[in-house]
Amino acid sequence: MILVTGGTGYIGSHTCVALMNAGYHVAILDNLCNSRIEVLNRLARLCPVRPDFVEGDVRDPSVLDSVFARYPISAVVHFAGLKAVGDSVKNPLAYYDNNVNGSVQLLRAMQRANVKTFVFSSTATVYAGPFDEALRESDRLGASQPYGHSKLVVEEILADLQSAEPDWRIACLRYFNPVGAHESGLIGESPLGAPNNLMPYLAQVASGMREFLNVWGNDYATPDGTGVRDYLHVMDLAEAHLAALHHLQTVTSLSTKPLTLNLGTGQGYSVLEVVHAFEQASGQKIGRQFAPRRAGDIAQYWADPGLAKQVLGWQAKRGLQEMCADTWRWQLHSAKDGEPS
Ligand SMILES: NC(=O)c1ccc[n+]([C@@H]2O[C@H](COP(=O)([O-])OP(=O)(O)OC[C@H]3O[C@@H](n4cnc5c(N)ncnc54)[C@H](O)[C@@H]3O)[C@@H](O)[C@H]2O)c1
Repeated sequence: MILVTGGTGYIGSHTCVALMNAGYHVAILDNLCNSRIEVLNRLARLCPVRPDFVEGDVRDPSVLDSVFARYPISAVVHFAGLKAVGDSVKNPLAYYDNNVNGSVQLLRAMQRANVKTFVFSSTATVYAGPFDEALRESDRLGASQPYGHSKLVVEEILADLQSAEPDWRIACLRYFNPVGAHESGLIGESPLGAPNNLMPYLAQVASGMREFLNVWGNDYATPDGTGVRDYLHVMDLAEAHLAALHHLQTVTSLSTKPLTLNLGTGQGYSVLEVVHAFEQASGQKIGRQFAPRRAGDIAQYWADPGLAKQVLGWQAKRGLQEMCADTWRWQLHSAKDGEPS
């Protein structure tokens, strides 16, 4: 059985679908600080069985010990954490507590339970730049804000742990920009309040919930002047977790370093390219206005996903049109069901 922390959240719920449809049994641990219990009913419709669920916090050792005592856990996929870069600048301690302390508590509980296979949600924001070429795993690291720094600290903790105890099997997966939703329209990203990310914001403008999109900066050194990112369909990302888990569970040679992989498509799209694709997918005109650059934003970055292909045989399959169409379907479903999106 696989323990998925943060499994009712955006990426976690899609990964549960991929895991359960591949035959894994799943137990979710989530404190529901950024997700809803209703997700479990949706997962029950998308998967052969309903996942087990424990409401609790990864920072709580007694909750963790009871989860490991109750379920025959063989591996952990760790999504639980806070993820808003801007919020992390205002509330750094909350980010270090949830993301760093949460990971340490979880790893200690795994040690107590003798479970040593661990997949960690890291991020492309751990890279320090320069950003004028595809980012590779060996590139210079350094985060300019507490969120990215909290992820980098956990990566370093995992490296120390793996070096001290080589029987651990650890993967750090650096996600680029996950977007989209399950093709059923039953699960997707449900930001609380105004979305921080482009795609959910576009969906809300297209559906009339918001008047227009602010495009932050149109004077970057990119082909159309707007920022470029490597968007990745969340189901491709979910499938990468499946591949990483399978790899860790079957690899025969022990390693002294965690397996660290970029997960992206290798292709960047500008804000305006995404807006056009979303207009096509939704059939709606999207109002937008140019606004000044946001402090701290980078002109462009994209992944070199070659190592993930080499090691896992994984490669993103879904393109920008599918990312937009699936986001739009989710937007329509969630609006119909009264789910705040
Ligand atoms: N979405 C992205 O753009 C992105 C990019 C790179 C990395 N990540 C990382 O991937 C992971 C999942 O991201 P997401 O987009 O699905 O976020 P999300 O907020 O939708 O999911 C996180 C889940 O963790 C739960 N959670 C948070 N703190 C917890 C705690 N202390 N104990 C138990 N549960 C807790 C939340 O309730 C939520 O269900 C995060 O660690 C995030 O930092 C996300």
